[in-house]
Amino acid sequence: MKAIRIHEFGGPEVMQLEEVPKPLPAADEILLKVYATSVNPADYIIRQGGNDLLRPLLKLPMGLGLDASGIVEAIGADVKDFKPGNKVYGVPNFPGDGGYAEYLAAKATQFAPMPHNITFNEAGALPSCALIAWNAIVDLGHVQPGQRVLIHGAAGGVGNLAVQFAKAKGAYVIGTASAHNFDFLKELGADEVIDYNTQHFEELLHDIDLVFNASPVRDQSVRMKSAEVLKDGGIFVCSQLDSPFPAALLQVLAAKNAIGTMVGGGSISYTSSLHGTTALIEEGKVKAVVSKVYPLAEVAAAHRESEKKHVRGKLVLEVAKEN
Ligand SMILES: NC(=O)c1ccc[n+]([C@@H]2O[C@H](COP(=O)([O-])OP(=O)(O)OC[C@H]3O[C@@H](n4cnc5c(N)ncnc54)[C@H](OP(=O)(O)O)[C@@H]3O)[C@@H](O)[C@H]2O)c1
Repeated sequence: MKAIRIHEFGGPEVMQLEEVPKPLPAADEILLKVYATSVNPADYIIRQGGNDLLRPLLKLPMGLGLDASGIVEAIGADVKDFKPGNKVYGVPNFPGDGGYAEYLAAKATQFAPMPHNITFNEAGALPSCALIAWNAIVDLGHVQPGQRVLIHGAAGGVGNLAVQFAKAKGAYVIGTASAHNFDFLKELGADEVIDYNTQHFEELLHDIDLVFNASPVRDQSVRMKSAEVLKDGGIFVCSQLDSPFPAALLQVLAAKNAIGTMVGGGSISYTSSLHGTTALIEEGKVKAVVSKVYPLAEVAAAHRESEKKHVRGKLVLEVAKEN
């Protein structure tokens, strides 16, 4: 089978499409025929050698790809939740031999049934961003109807799902984005959009219940201002696990009796996040946003585009054509 592998860390050119052995599923694993995957910041960060959190976990040569959608081809002896032929999506083997491959073997617990009303390409755009956005909005943010929620990076892979999840939970949703994404975000359900290039959200907002920082840009001043616009007892959730909160930010949060927390890492529940996402998609309350589809062989071009940090929704890598 064919898979993208890296033998050294570096630029997009280190990703090679190679012939590698088809994996065999262990007792608690499924063998997945992959139809689609997508590009996430973690993919190019790993390709470059990782950050402080990821570096110790990376071992060359290695595969890539946080996301995968496809059809279960075989199951291990202990797998009860899936059978061959099931359409599933998930976040397999992170960080390692993920969705940038024609087949992968990974723990069954890393998958959920795919929504029945979307394509493999749409499903391949969702899993890792859905895990982060669900965890931020539902599990950590506890968003309730009528609450005011601010989402930084609202047009991105994580951000657009956070907007849709918060809206589905009945919140008043404010997003930050560049002006060309205003109409897009309003269509997704955002009640207000702020252009972070020309406007200062901290001058426009106050008494926010939840701020979710889903921007790919690490900026301590945005974090500090986010804490300042929270109401007393509010919640600040940040997606930038690799960049710990400084003491000054913790002081502002403490003075407001506010909670500051990172989203991501090992604490995420695949089951509740992916099952919750599937339900909202099947109810027509959430959709997958795919801005461009590349064949797997053009992964380098997709990474170059993602690294500009202005993708709307997701860039999908099509691994196999849907019948
Ligand atoms: N994807 C995952 O699975 C995952 C998992 C864990 C953590 N995270 C973290 O979550 C963050 C977001 O990931 P992502 O996949 O959503 O990234 P992404 O899709 O690459 O984000 C692109 C978006 O970022 C926006 N953006 C760029 N600069 C900005 C700025 N200065 N302020 C506000 N928004 C800005 C852009 O909006 P405009 O074009 O409108 O300017 C664009 O829509 C990253 O820090 C990532 O490390 C992601």
